[in-house]
Amino acid sequence: MSSAQSLSSTHPTFPPDPEFAATANGTAQLYDAAAADYEGFWADQARSRITWDTDFESTLDWSEAPFAQWFVGGQLNAAYNCVDRHVAAGHGDRVAIHFEGEPGDTRTITYADLLSEVSRAANALEALGIRKGDTVAIYLPMIPEAAIAMLACARIGAPHSVVFGGFSAEALNTRINDAACKLVITADGGYRRGAPSALKPAVDAALDHAETTVDKVLVVQRTRQETPWFPERDLWWHDALAAASDTHAAPAHDSEHPLFILYTSGTTGKPKGIFHTTGGYLTQAAYTNAVVHDVHPESDVYWCTADIGWVTGHSYIVYGPLANGATQVMYEGTPDSPHQGRWWEIIQKYGVSILYTAPTAVRTFMKWGSEIPAGFDLSSLRLLGSVGEPINPEAWLWYRKYIGGDRCPIVDTWWQTETGAIMISPLPGVTTLEPGSAQRPIPGISAEILDDEGVPFTEPEKVGYLVLTKPWPAMLRGIWGDPQRYRDTYWSRFGEKYYFAGDGAKYDADGNIWLLGRVDDVMNVSGHRLSTAEIESALVSHPKVAEAAVVGASDEMTGQAVVAFVILREEHVEEADEVGEGTDLVKELRDHVAKEIGPIAKPRTIMIVAELPKTRSGKIMRRLLKDVAEGREVGDVTTLADSSVMSSIKLGLDG
Ligand code: WTA
Repeated sequence: MSSAQSLSSTHPTFPPDPEFAATANGTAQLYDAAAADYEGFWADQARSRITWDTDFESTLDWSEAPFAQWFVGGQLNAAYNCVDRHVAAGHGDRVAIHFEGEPGDTRTITYADLLSEVSRAANALEALGIRKGDTVAIYLPMIPEAAIAMLACARIGAPHSVVFGGFSAEALNTRINDAACKLVITADGGYRRGAPSALKPAVDAALDHAETTVDKVLVVQRTRQETPWFPERDLWWHDALAAASDTHAAPAHDSEHPLFILYTSGTTGKPKGIFHTTGGYLTQAAYTNAVVHDVHPESDVYWCTADIGWVTGHSYIVYGPLANGATQVMYEGTPDSPHQGRWWEIIQKYGVSILYTAPTAVRTFMKWGSEIPAGFDLSSLRLLGSVGEPINPEAWLWYRKYIGGDRCPIVDTWWQTETGAIMISPLPGVTTLEPGSAQRPIPGISAEILDDEGVPFTEPEKVGYLVLTKPWPAMLRGIWGDPQRYRDTYWSRFGEKYYFAGDGAKYDADGNIWLLGRVDDVMNVSGHRLSTAEIESALVSHPKVAEAAVVGASDEMTGQAVVAFVILREEHVEEADEVGEGTDLVKELRDHVAKEIGPIAKPRTIMIVAELPKTRSGKIMRRLLKDVAEGREVGDVTTLADSSVMSSIKLGLDG
């Protein structure tokens, strides 16, 4: 359908293909229905997509704003909705997960298999003393047990806290303690770039503190590598499951029962435990996976390439597609192992029809060259998605041409850990696609752009702040253990009426919303959220560092890159004479950040400086450092306490 392309003033736009539209789940009527009766619309979604043990009495209670309750009085079980009911409906033989391990091992898990595994795991958790309301940490590679563990927790009402496997022992420790987890589910290791990579030692280190709330550690055997073992505390997952029955009656939980906690970076050093509840979250995850990804469970093979450690993996590997009864691919490894065509080989092998990935991956594939995907049969694809950061029009157009064969619609989906599910996105089959823009709120969601004074505007090309103007079912219910921080972070910048997303945005002349990146001290590196403050505190925890300032500098591949400016302690300053990229000291500091947070937070560049630019009140002016990091002329320095600092930083770097 390349002929469907028409030219707007600056670049092509893509009207929906009538053939796609004819079977699309998303329709123009959804916008009208949601506009006509907002609560009624969501009540319909909840009742038609989710199976309730007890129907809800009211759709929304916003009387305690900004603390929402959705589908009040309703009772359900999320795991039942994701697994049991599909088996009960006669789809037990349908594949739920085509697992592809990095070394090439595979597993086919049907919904019937998933039901017995989740039931066994739920029984095993109960046998270990885990009860409704207890929190469980999950620290696993991308293997089916990650989804099984999450669903087993959901089944018994134990909120899970999944910690990305790339986070360090320190980061894991903070998260385990903040949520007072009773159990950790981990693995001996996972495969990464062709080799086993250990995971369990990080759990051991995280628990190696005087006080811990963790009683037991359940260990999945994945790599069979040598694993340190504490017999009092550690148990093999396969032993625990083998001893458990494969039937488990799913109890009904309140619609507002906490489903999970997921930590994300904020503007201070301490990560925020974003928490989500059951009924509203599951409704919106299922609805968006149906209308935005256009999943047709009877015919599609869906693949979301995210890691389960991020919200995208929660909503669009586990809860959304499984609630819809979809068949999906789960892949353990990296796109270049053992060769740069691995993803395309997987798509060809399983006949993947829907691919949901991140712009940073698309840009990497662009760099590797279009001849790589051209070597595989990608004709099964019919829809592409993007998430995690703005997708630049060049990458969008490349994605459409070389992966989507000029025929697949692309949905650029804006949302956050906090929103729980997709909020702004085109509807494939309805929206004329505008490369680079997430376009407009989906039916049932309301957004506006505000100026500095908090006044909404619609003028094109003016830059403002994105806000959400109505509560939505999958919204976070707060920050674990810190209700005040929830109010302060999201509901105070523009008053109690607006959810402040932290993203800059603008409209174009056609009324499309363009997301312009974070306006706070949060960076987005390869679609991963990192906080400047968190990396700064990791750097200053190193004995040689006196002070540090971190900025996100724009980077062609990763969107943003971490750039750190570091002042050394007096006694180490002489080491700075020999600094530069790749020197021992810089390497030592980068490794230290990896140890404190995780390899994803390693600064791309560390600059050793004598001073940092500060205002008279002592606030570091990151704006100026960003100018330096991005190689720009340094901006207005008049508010600096000492205006010569910037020239000495520049001199030091140039010299
Ligand atoms: C950014 C990931 C532009 C944004 C689901 C947001 C995007 C942050 C897009 C949330 C997009 C996500 N276009 N920016 N399509 N999707 N973002 O919590 O800055 O890891 O605030 O959730 O990613 O990141 P998080």
